[in-house]
Amino acid sequence: MCGVIGVVGNNNATEILLSGLKRLEYRGYDSAGIYVNDQHGNDHLIKRVGKIVNLQQAITNEDSGITGIGHTRWATHGKPSQSNAHPHFSQDRRFYLVHNGVINNFAELKAKYLTGVEFQSDTDSEVVVQLVDYFAVTDQVDALTAFRKTLQLLEGSYAFALMDRQEPDKIFIAKNKSPLLIGLAAGYNLICSDALAFLDQTDTFLEIHDGEMGIITKDNVQLTTLDNQPVQRQPYQVQMDANDLSKGTYDSYMLKEIDEQPAVLRRISEYYYSSEQDKLAPQLLDDLQKADRLYIVAAGTSYHAGLVARQLFEELADIPVEVQLASEFGYHMPKLSAHPFFIFLSQSGETADSRQVLDQVRHLNYPTLTITNVINSTLAREAEYSLPLCAGPEVAVASTKAYIAQIAVQAILAQKLGLRKKIAAASELDVAQQLGLAANAIQTIVDQKDYLEQLSHDYFAQQNAAFFIGRGNGYAVAIEAALKLKEVSYVHAEGFAAGELKHGTIALIEEQTPVVAFILEQSTAAHTRSNVKEVLSRGAHTLIISKQSLAQEGDQLVVADLDERLMPLVAIVPAQLFAYYTAVERGNDVDQPRNLAKSVTVE
Ligand code: F6R
Repeated sequence: MCGVIGVVGNNNATEILLSGLKRLEYRGYDSAGIYVNDQHGNDHLIKRVGKIVNLQQAITNEDSGITGIGHTRWATHGKPSQSNAHPHFSQDRRFYLVHNGVINNFAELKAKYLTGVEFQSDTDSEVVVQLVDYFAVTDQVDALTAFRKTLQLLEGSYAFALMDRQEPDKIFIAKNKSPLLIGLAAGYNLICSDALAFLDQTDTFLEIHDGEMGIITKDNVQLTTLDNQPVQRQPYQVQMDANDLSKGTYDSYMLKEIDEQPAVLRRISEYYYSSEQDKLAPQLLDDLQKADRLYIVAAGTSYHAGLVARQLFEELADIPVEVQLASEFGYHMPKLSAHPFFIFLSQSGETADSRQVLDQVRHLNYPTLTITNVINSTLAREAEYSLPLCAGPEVAVASTKAYIAQIAVQAILAQKLGLRKKIAAASELDVAQQLGLAANAIQTIVDQKDYLEQLSHDYFAQQNAAFFIGRGNGYAVAIEAALKLKEVSYVHAEGFAAGELKHGTIALIEEQTPVVAFILEQSTAAHTRSNVKEVLSRGAHTLIISKQSLAQEGDQLVVADLDERLMPLVAIVPAQLFAYYTAVERGNDVDQPRNLAKSVTVE
């Protein structure tokens, strides 16, 4: 949430900041701003409410600079407005600052040190830049010393980039619990919340760890801890093609990413099965084998993918599994088993809710694995083991291809663990073959776009509420389907266990209320069909998505048969397309739905 960037020592700083901000826009799009300095005494601060395009329109040729910082905001403290947009500045306009994170003790600091200061915004971030100025003036110290003193007082999370008009050839940075990287380019340097921002400028990056700060100039990077101990760090190469970030011929990333799903499943199979060296470290499998219970910790769509994985691990690897919402689990941790193993599922690898759980369980010395789409992300770095999702960059805020990738990678892991434990169910399931079948089945669904668009129009576009029901894996898919519909189309949607309807929810069914039922498993198909009849007789507009071997005449959508445990890979795809087409028909921004951000770095 919130994207922070900076450029030091490039004549095109303004253009580089703007293009970087566009790539970071997924992190928040309430407002955006830049501050640039030409190092000859001229500087420019431009901020606008709304998307980066509004900022871009406000920038003129005059606003050029050599060094600068930029920000795209997802509001936490203070509503989206021009004055609450970053960069914030000190009252003497000497210091400029961008911030991603939340400062918990900003009110105390403001009351203690800054009573005489006239604030321009309602943000916690402005307190930080005013404090740096306060210490620079009161203690008569340079920017670095004033910044360090300020950082030592802060409680909370931050990625900061700070500029001082008196030293305009430098950017000062600091990080705690919010992501921040340094990009090393030819003749100039960069900073960013995510390497994606600058893949067109460099593929070489340096990590900054929590509790570190630094000074970046055009040809030097100096990192220390907050108490001034020097830090040495080797750069690393990011292996990602900047072209993966383009929309190509699509109008939206969401549709492109839905269409990429067959290719994602094939890439995962290729990565985990066809390469010479097994991608699952023997030590990881050893630790998994020693565990008596798996705890899958995640949020949102990733949590839903965890729910699907539970049955895979329990049946293929014969191990009990608990799937937990990160934001709840960290604060209400149940009594753990004697030998727990923690799996953190996260597309971005930056989710603060998951990270606080990871922090806790690492301190308890439990083994941890992160499964993520971003291999150098915080959760990947901080867990003992990490595995990639191989989904390619997911730019649309609504997660689609990462969801199916999470299920696929967990299926592979469950099977490999089961094989090692000599569990018969693991050798009876050919996961690689199933992933191939799933890829073909998804292709068949995405090839029926006209029909799915028509269903979206007939069922959802004019409605205020919709329900998705299913049992077992059908229930897991139902709650993910409901999340997709609500987040991009803003139709109120809920997923329910089909058997629960009669215990209360059925009261909400009115004439024409859409109810989508997933019929994906033999053992419960008849019961779920009865539930469909119950809502039908109360006026619901029902839509059945069934797997081929359980299909009946009149089902609106029949998807190919897979092993029942893997049906969610295919069954979710029509629902992703319902969400997409409903949002388009309602005129919504499908890639950047209101109020959301892709990477949720606050708790
Ligand atoms: C919904 C969605 C979110 C994320 C959630 C966790 O489409 O994308 O619900 O799944 O914010 O994010 P990650 O997976 O990055 O930890």
